[in-house]
Amino acid sequence: MSQATSKTIKCKAAVSWGVGEALKVEEIQVDPPKASEVRIKMLCASLCHTDILCCNGIPFPIFPRIPGHEGVGMVESVGEGVTEVKGGDIVIPTYIGECGKCDNCQSGKSNLCHTYPLKVDGLMPDGTSRMSTSDGTRIYHHFTCSTLSEYIVIDANYIVKFDPRIPLHHASFMSCGYSTGFGSTWREVQVHKGSSVAVIGIGAVGLGVIEGARTQGAARIIGVDVNEKKRTKGEVFGMTDFINPSKDSDKRISELVNELTGGLGVDYCFECTGIASLLNEAIESSKAGIGSAVLIGAGNETSGQINFRSLLLGKTVKGSIFGGIRPKSDLPIIFDKCLNKELHLEELLTHEVSLDEINKALKLMKQPDCVKVIIKY
Ligand SMILES: NC(=O)c1ccc[n+]([C@@H]2O[C@H](COP(=O)([O-])OP(=O)(O)OC[C@H]3O[C@@H](n4cnc5c(N)ncnc54)[C@H](O)[C@@H]3O)[C@@H](O)[C@H]2O)c1
Ligand SMILES: [Zn+2]
Ligand SMILES: [Zn+2]
Repeated sequence: MSQATSKTIKCKAAVSWGVGEALKVEEIQVDPPKASEVRIKMLCASLCHTDILCCNGIPFPIFPRIPGHEGVGMVESVGEGVTEVKGGDIVIPTYIGECGKCDNCQSGKSNLCHTYPLKVDGLMPDGTSRMSTSDGTRIYHHFTCSTLSEYIVIDANYIVKFDPRIPLHHASFMSCGYSTGFGSTWREVQVHKGSSVAVIGIGAVGLGVIEGARTQGAARIIGVDVNEKKRTKGEVFGMTDFINPSKDSDKRISELVNELTGGLGVDYCFECTGIASLLNEAIESSKAGIGSAVLIGAGNETSGQINFRSLLLGKTVKGSIFGGIRPKSDLPIIFDKCLNKELHLEELLTHEVSLDEINKALKLMKQPDCVKVIIKY
C-alpha cells in the first residue's frame, strides 16, 4: 500500500504518562507515513533495560510517550519515495541509521551517523510525531521506534530487512540489547584470540558480550553478577569463570578480577550494569599498558569517580551506543551467524506476555530468572 491509499489507523499501544507510572494500554491513532517513512505492523517486541529508563523519564522526561525500541514488524504502507522496502517486508526498527556518506560513516570507525542520529527528543526527523491519543493529544516516540504499539511509523533510513527464516523473537533480541553486547567485542574493541575478558552485569547485553568474546576467540571470559542465577546462563554463552561480588567476599570487583588473573587484570572489561561507579571497577580490572574498559550500561547517574592513577597506566576507555554496530552493514553479519546457528539467542527468552500484560512484563524484568520478555502481538 502506498501513502496515497494509506489512512490513519486506530490501534492499541502502551503509553507512558509520567515518571514511574504504570503504562496504560489504550487506543491511539497512528498517522500514515510521510515521504521517506514507512508504517509497520508490529509482530513482536522485547524489552531492554533502557525501556525502564525511558518510563522513568531518563534521559528526558517526555510524556505521553510510547516506549520500546526492540521488535520486529511487517511493512504495512510506505510513504512517497520509499523504494528499499515494500508492503509485506519483515523488518526491524533501529534507533540509529547509516547514511554511508557522512564523516563518521565514512571513517569506518563509528556507527554514530550524523545524518540519521540517535533521536532523544521523541519526534520524527521533521520535528513532528505520527502518534496521538484518541482525543488528539500528541504522543512522543521512543528513539525512532516505540515498539510497544501495534503500529508504528518510522523513517525508512532506520529500518533493516532480514531473512524471514530467522525466528521473530531472535530478530527482536538482535535489534538492541544482545547485538549491543555482541557488537562491542568486535566493533568497539577487537577482542583478540587468546585474550582475557571480564563482563560486569550478565543481562542480555552482558550475554551478548560473552558470546561475542567467545566467537572472537577469547581464552578467558570472566562474568561478574550479583545474581547467582547468571552463573549457569553465562556458561551457556561461553563464560569460563564467574564472580558474584556480593557472595564471594567483601572485596571490590576489580580486586576479584585481578586475583583471578594473577594480578594483571584483563585485556578487555565491559561495564553492562549502568551503575556509574562500576566503570571505575572496569578500568581497574583492565591490564596496565594495553587494557580497555568499554562503557555500555546506562542508568540514572550521569557521572562517577574515575581512578586517574589506574587510567594513566596506558589504559583505554571507550563508550558505546549499540555496540558500535552499523545497522545496515553489520547487522546482516550477525543475522548470518544466527542463521548458521552460531548464537544462543533462544537461551535469552525467559518470558512471553501480550501487550495487555505490559506492566507484568516490566515487573518480570526485576525477577532473578528473567533475561528477556517477548511481547506478542
Ligand atoms: N549503550 C547502549 O547502546 C545500550 C544498549 C542496550 C542497553 N544498554 C544498557 O546496558 C545495561 C544492561 O542492559 P540489560 O538489558 O542487559 O540489563 P539487565 O538488567 O538485564 O542486566 C543487568 C545485569 O547487571 C546485574 N547487576 C546489577 N547490579 C550489579 C552489581 N552491582 N554488580 C554486578 N552485576 C550487577 C544484574 O543482576 C543483571 O543481571 C543497562 O544499563 C541498559 O540501559 C545500553
Ligand atoms: Zn552517516
Ligand atoms: Zn536497548
